Amino acid sequence: MKADVVLGSFYGDEGKGKIIDYLSQNADFAVRCSGGNNAGHSIEIDGKKFAFHLIPSGILNKNTIAVIGNGVVVDPKVLLEEINNLKENGYDAKNLRVSDKSHVIFSYHIEMDKLQEDLRGNKKIGTTCRGIGPAYCDKYERCGIRMGDFVNKRYEEQLRKNVEVKNNIFRSYGYKEIDVENVLEEYNRYADKLKEYVVDTVALLHEAIEQDKKILCEGAQATLLDIDVGSYPFVTSSNPTIGGICTGTGIGARFIGEVYGVLKAYSSRVGEGPYITEQDNEIGDMIRELGHEYGTTTKRPRRCGWLDLVALKYAAMVNGLTGLAINHVDTIGKLDKIKLCTGYKKDGVTNMKFSVDLDYLKDCEPVYETFDGNFGDISNVKKREDLPENAKKYLNRIEEVVGVPIKFIGTGAGRDSMIVC
Ligand code: IMO
Ligand code: MG
Repeated sequence: MKADVVLGSFYGDEGKGKIIDYLSQNADFAVRCSGGNNAGHSIEIDGKKFAFHLIPSGILNKNTIAVIGNGVVVDPKVLLEEINNLKENGYDAKNLRVSDKSHVIFSYHIEMDKLQEDLRGNKKIGTTCRGIGPAYCDKYERCGIRMGDFVNKRYEEQLRKNVEVKNNIFRSYGYKEIDVENVLEEYNRYADKLKEYVVDTVALLHEAIEQDKKILCEGAQATLLDIDVGSYPFVTSSNPTIGGICTGTGIGARFIGEVYGVLKAYSSRVGEGPYITEQDNEIGDMIRELGHEYGTTTKRPRRCGWLDLVALKYAAMVNGLTGLAINHVDTIGKLDKIKLCTGYKKDGVTNMKFSVDLDYLKDCEPVYETFDGNFGDISNVKKREDLPENAKKYLNRIEEVVGVPIKFIGTGAGRDSMIVC
């Protein structure tokens, strides 16, 4: 059976966890493919909230094997915290597998992330400071430490070299140096605890494909944060787009099925970088409060604004989206009037051309269409045709402009508040 994929369409925090939770209810495997604990996926089940940064949220379904794929960078301390948290809530983590080829985030990566943000001064990216970028740098420099070597304690020599190099940098900037003996002592403990979860996930997933098992790939981050097709340099350091799903799991394009792009009925961004439909005003403040738009990972208030269909069309194009999943329709429906960006005006001409080029974007002006809001309580609506007319008009227009069908409509925070089209 082909693997279905859930991806973020904008700048992250689109509510991927909710869609993943629904789809993984009948998935045999739920797989994280890229990024690390910079992600924050929250799920509400029977009024209980769970926040996952690293473990695929599909782990809450006991029949689903949750896989951390080879493209992920793994902070072992955070992983163990998440495992413990699951155990405290009555879930064992026996259905967790971690790729032997995923790379380990060490404390020096986190310190390096902070140093680099400091050095950027007023040009900072606004990273999550979780060591993600520096861990990927080591991976590509081919001095990174992989999970398989880590849990089998074949990493001391490389670790000593890495700490020496990092300490030279820390020292030259007057930052505190890392004590390699402390790192070894601390991380050896993590290695022992994680060993039971580490396997060759590429082989595992291909066996699953051969056995016709259902695989769900959980995207983290989002299209416009992609290192290649996102708004560089204000991006993350991996490929959260469809290509990263293939390389981050070892699943070839031929085995990919549905590709769902998740979005909110409005938009948000954390960290710096261009954001054309941002409402840095009372509208943005209202959306932030209504949608509880504060980071799951860093608790930062998110920048909020209208939904941008020019950017969404771009996400549909670069990922080959086959369906849209739109969350927070209930939230946007609390406003009297809603705007939808259906074009960019540049040099007096309006069109649908999107580019992540910062110079291009800086002179683009959003062109809006206005819709009536006040959708009322839609949390129990189960069919798209039963939605209020105003909601239908809004959703129909999104579909019409982007040319991709809406497959899921989020109508509230709870697990059941969703329309499957
Ligand atoms: P989920 O999976 C929102 C953003 C950071 C920063 C930039 C680079 O919850 O949608 P990094 O720490 O990755 O080097 O930071 O990327 N960012 C996210 N924003 N949601 C995320 O994940 C994000 N992961 C990274 O805010 O602007
Ligand atoms: Mg997030």
